Amino acid sequence: MASWQRTHTCGELRVGDAGKTVVLNGWVENRRDHGGVLFLDLRDRYGTTQVVVDDQRQGVAAGLLERATRLGAEDCVAIAGEVVTRDPDKVNPGRATGEVELVAHEVTIFSEADTPPFEIVDEAEANEELRMRKRFLDLRRRPMQSALIQRSKLVQAVRSFLASQGFVEVETPVLTKSTPEGARDYLVPSRVNPGSFYALPQSPQIFKQLMMISGLDRYYQIARCFRDEDLRADRQPEFSQIDLEMSFVEEDDVLDLVEGMVVAGFRDGLGVEVPRPFPRLDYADAQRRYGSDKPDLRFELELIDVSELAGKSDFKVFAQAIADGGQVKGLCVPGQAENFSRKDIDGLTAHVGEYGARGLAWAKITADGVTGSIAKFFGGAAGDALIEATGAAAGDLLLFVADRTEVVHRALGALRVRLGAALGLRDPKEFRFCWVTSFPMFEFHEERGTWDSAHHPFTAPDDWELEDYSKDTAKIRSRAYDLVLNGWELGSGSIRIHRPDVQQRVFEFLGISEEEQQSKFGFLLDAMRYGAPPHGGIALGLDRLIAMALGHDSIRDVIAFPKTTSAQDLMCEAPSTVAPEQLAELHIMSQAPKKP
Ligand code: AMO
Ligand code: AMP
Repeated sequence: MASWQRTHTCGELRVGDAGKTVVLNGWVENRRDHGGVLFLDLRDRYGTTQVVVDDQRQGVAAGLLERATRLGAEDCVAIAGEVVTRDPDKVNPGRATGEVELVAHEVTIFSEADTPPFEIVDEAEANEELRMRKRFLDLRRRPMQSALIQRSKLVQAVRSFLASQGFVEVETPVLTKSTPEGARDYLVPSRVNPGSFYALPQSPQIFKQLMMISGLDRYYQIARCFRDEDLRADRQPEFSQIDLEMSFVEEDDVLDLVEGMVVAGFRDGLGVEVPRPFPRLDYADAQRRYGSDKPDLRFELELIDVSELAGKSDFKVFAQAIADGGQVKGLCVPGQAENFSRKDIDGLTAHVGEYGARGLAWAKITADGVTGSIAKFFGGAAGDALIEATGAAAGDLLLFVADRTEVVHRALGALRVRLGAALGLRDPKEFRFCWVTSFPMFEFHEERGTWDSAHHPFTAPDDWELEDYSKDTAKIRSRAYDLVLNGWELGSGSIRIHRPDVQQRVFEFLGISEEEQQSKFGFLLDAMRYGAPPHGGIALGLDRLIAMALGHDSIRDVIAFPKTTSAQDLMCEAPSTVAPEQLAELHIMSQAPKKP
């Protein structure tokens, strides 16, 4: 071992090490001059240790104090010295190494640092753009390192759980063909096949189904997926899934297995106990009660249906919505009547407006009855009926939306989440997983005027023998399920179609011609003709899972090198233009307007 190499990490030294001569390697976090004595904090991944440079102590190399005075923040150094116990009044209880310090005998500088553009401290103060440009420095911050370490531990725990359950980890191609998951594909031109393109996988969906047909029985992969879609805090153009597939199973088998995996991942990876079983909600119930297919179950505030009394009401907005076949539903916010001003309610009205609601009717319950925007329609018996239907008590605030059922659910679902946040009803330490099951098989795409798969076209209908999907399409249920945590969709899966006749029928209903079926999915249809087992699986968004587990709002915080919302890597400056020769070699011409 070279003399500069560390004998300990910066998080390791304790009182028991006092008297030892040691070497630490790390980064200078800060330097404090106390006239003749210098204090340094030395940091590495494992912790921070205080270093004292004092010319007067024994064993100190000549000129050390002067050399140490020139050290700057983020210089990378080795420090050799003796561990000493601190005086009781100098102990730093907030630090694992806080009872000792290292009296430096010698300092070796590996490399000096330019002045960093932001301070490397736990609470990031720099703006995110700057942090992204200098991601290598941002990743020196302890919370960032901690997120990556926790992520690694969770993956490790998931891997060992799945291995214990007989799963085989298999890598599937990244240069492949389009997999329909609802986003645009990233394409890669082929040099050796002029005019042809690979697509990067949106998921390993088709490959994992093929492996079931191959008889692999249980597959998993920490799979990298690529989707060219609008980015948000919970979406990146490339992200990771815990992707798995099982043969000869029904919904319960997959759900039980995944619960076991999540519980093991949290327990063994993160040291967090999550109770089982996860509650299961039917899609229709989730919509009815929470106005969402990804309900946050950390708080109640369920939607209340007042359609019956609304239909008989003198309030035109309510009566008309019911006459048009819609619904009137509301939220009863306990004890908040006095806390919400007109202006606050205007804010809530604007919020539901973003979700398509044309207004927000409100009422406050007082000891004398109903006040508010709809009070004049709810005096006397009508008021009593409203109070009875909503279960409201004096001091409660009532908020209603009247519209088509989808709009009512979407708007109140969003309002419920907003109120949950505003009123502090969501415990950040609580993990409320749930399953949402029995999704609709198809979804109507308003703009295109066509039906799409609600999950993906490989999802089985709940009735194998159903011949005609065009009849009562909206009522057809699939065998898809989602794993939801605290209002986020963490994962989606389904029992798959293993019968080529059913698969073809679904493709046909989705308007995929016979020719297109062959060109896009011919190999899957072909494989299904060679004895396909019943199978099903799921994929969990790993980035979302770990972000939720660690209490981050954005998955960017748990990805080492994430992209911005405009899909750029600011540090590498990717994507970037390429030399014309490179394009020519790929048989490609760019039509993009020249940048100024
Ligand atoms: P789905 O498309 O629902 O299903 O994706 C599964 C999970 O992946 C995560 N996810 C994302 N995470 C970050 N950034 C994104 N852009 C992004 N898109 C999706 C979500 C989501 O729940 N093949 C199917 C799964 C299956 O049927 O087995 C699939 O990919 O957490
Ligand atoms: P108006 O009769 O337009 O003055 O509206 C009276 C109240 O009803 C206001 O608080 C509006 O925000 C509300 N309102 C209007 N349309 C709707 C609707 N579709 N659903 C719920 N409330 C509505």
